[in-house]
Amino acid sequence: MLEKIVSGITATGKLTLGNYIGSIKNMIKLQNDYEQYIFVADLHALTTYIDPKELIENKKNIFALYLACGLDPQKTTLFFQSDVPAHSELNWIITTITNMGELSKMTQFKDKSQNIVKQDNKTEIIPTGLFVYPALMIADIILYNPKAVPVGIDQKQHLELCQKIVKRMNTKYHLNFNEPKPIIPKIGNKIKSLVNPEQKMSKSDKNANASIYLLDDPEVAYKKIQRAVTDSENKIYISEEKPGVLNLLTIFASLKDISIEEAEKHFSNKTYKDLKEEVGEVVKQFLIEIQKKYQSYIQNIDEIAQAGAKKANKIASENLLIIQKAFGLK
Ligand code: TYM
Repeated sequence: MLEKIVSGITATGKLTLGNYIGSIKNMIKLQNDYEQYIFVADLHALTTYIDPKELIENKKNIFALYLACGLDPQKTTLFFQSDVPAHSELNWIITTITNMGELSKMTQFKDKSQNIVKQDNKTEIIPTGLFVYPALMIADIILYNPKAVPVGIDQKQHLELCQKIVKRMNTKYHLNFNEPKPIIPKIGNKIKSLVNPEQKMSKSDKNANASIYLLDDPEVAYKKIQRAVTDSENKIYISEEKPGVLNLLTIFASLKDISIEEAEKHFSNKTYKDLKEEVGEVVKQFLIEIQKKYQSYIQNIDEIAQAGAKKANKIASENLLIIQKAFGLK
């Protein structure tokens, strides 16, 4: 029997090149050797307010982009998280074995809740969902009992908590679930904002120039790369002190499937203008290719999503039942 893989993307915004390089690219590789379950995390999108119409739109776009990027429904089970009720059911059980202290330490919770407090100056308005979000993520994972979870580096802390909680659950309730390992890409596990290369490229960034969206007009994306913040040295080499240049080299290396060192060598005697033109061209061609496929998938996602949910429901309810029995619920 093949080992299992599970992962998801939250439907909070439009997918970025960071999501592709940091997670989707690995999912595509893994689908050949594993039984893979990939979902659109729509329940997670509710943790901070989202316009319901926007959520519906995001869900469809992400699903069609999974397909357009190369996830094959014959190999990967693709579904919407809320179509598999076991995610919500196990979520509750997981909150009962997760501590407030553990959840308070999550950097993503700290960042997002601080932003809310900054805007309104009130701590009491932080949604409980934002706080317990990692418990739902742990439930998402355990339901498929995977060996590993492909993610970018920003999810590493959540995966570490997941391992800890699985261990606790196994010990306390005499279960034998896997402690899943994160699969984090060597190149591009944290693609940076084009406007502030100290920060991660994020689908929730308010500044559209900071991110390349997978559905950006390819010409617009090209222009964003030309305007990307670098530095004034005009010499291309790998250095943490040059985050803007390193980010462009990383994007180039990942999309060309070469190492960062090879990318550095390729640009060694070239200028920032050359770098931006070449990276811009590679990104533009990549988007043209995906978007062609996207158009053919966007009309046909219902059937694939229904078949995916059916398959996911089967394994998720089997694992949920094992846990419910162990906890004395059944
Ligand atoms: P999310 O939606 O923020 O991001 C989806 C995936 O994309 C990766 N990623 C990046 N990688 C490289 N560079 C970036 N700039 C970048 N931005 C995002 C993320 O690391 C992630 O792998 N909580 C998760 C979704 C989720 C999940 C799960 C993942 C819900 N349940 C269960 C795995 C397993 C999230 O919000 O990711």
